[in-house]
Amino acid sequence: MTSDWDATRYDTDQSFVAAYGTPLVDLLDPEPGERVLDLGCGTGDLTATLAERVGDAGRAVGVDRSPSMVARARTRHDGPAFVRGDLRAPPVRGADGALSNAALHWVPAADQDRVLAAVADALRPDGRFVAELGGTGNVASVVRAANAARREHGHDPADPWYFPSVGEYTMRLEDAGFEVRRAVLFDRPTDLDGTDGLASWLAQFGDPLLGELPDRDAVAAAIVERLREERFDGETWTLDYRRLRLVAVRV
Ligand code: BEZ
Repeated sequence: MTSDWDATRYDTDQSFVAAYGTPLVDLLDPEPGERVLDLGCGTGDLTATLAERVGDAGRAVGVDRSPSMVARARTRHDGPAFVRGDLRAPPVRGADGALSNAALHWVPAADQDRVLAAVADALRPDGRFVAELGGTGNVASVVRAANAARREHGHDPADPWYFPSVGEYTMRLEDAGFEVRRAVLFDRPTDLDGTDGLASWLAQFGDPLLGELPDRDAVAAAIVERLREERFDGETWTLDYRRLRLVAVRV
């Protein structure tokens, strides 16, 4: 990210991110009294759900790199601890479980092993890790349209997020000291709110495609036009999300 997130927009136009993450809490299955981490917690909705499940809010800790996300999480949710920090250095040791929703694809490929080793370090032996991130082919239509628009405007193509395959990520988890119990890649077409849904999505998430460009607004508008026929039905934009969902245990 070249700039901070818009935490208010995240809770309105992009509220689907936390909503789609709710099943991860059931997969983690936190027990009363356990200590749990939410890595890349955003504005803290899933951390708050974890806190309810463990029964003692202070035993749920949310971590996020973004100052605005952490500030908003603290104002929205009483009880859980929200810490501004890097996923490469979670602020807890000996946790029973960790969850990460829609955050790990923001970590560059070169840093993935460090992050997974740090997650393993944060967990006790037999501690559980449940994660969902964009998998191979995620939002491929947007990446394709963005690179066509960049070329049209005289810019090199971007190589934006990290969207791994099942095999690649499973191997990374095993190398970091996890046993992988479940790994699945699935299509999850995702509706965006409002007739300007894609413009709002690009404003919030588009930095890896647009961040450094002097003509960012023009390139963003070109992406929207390139995708209008394929992804907009006159009322709703629907993006081609593909999720990689993982359940692993620290050995
Ligand atoms: C995702 O959750 O898959 C995602 C969100 C923003 C940008 C790219 C991917």
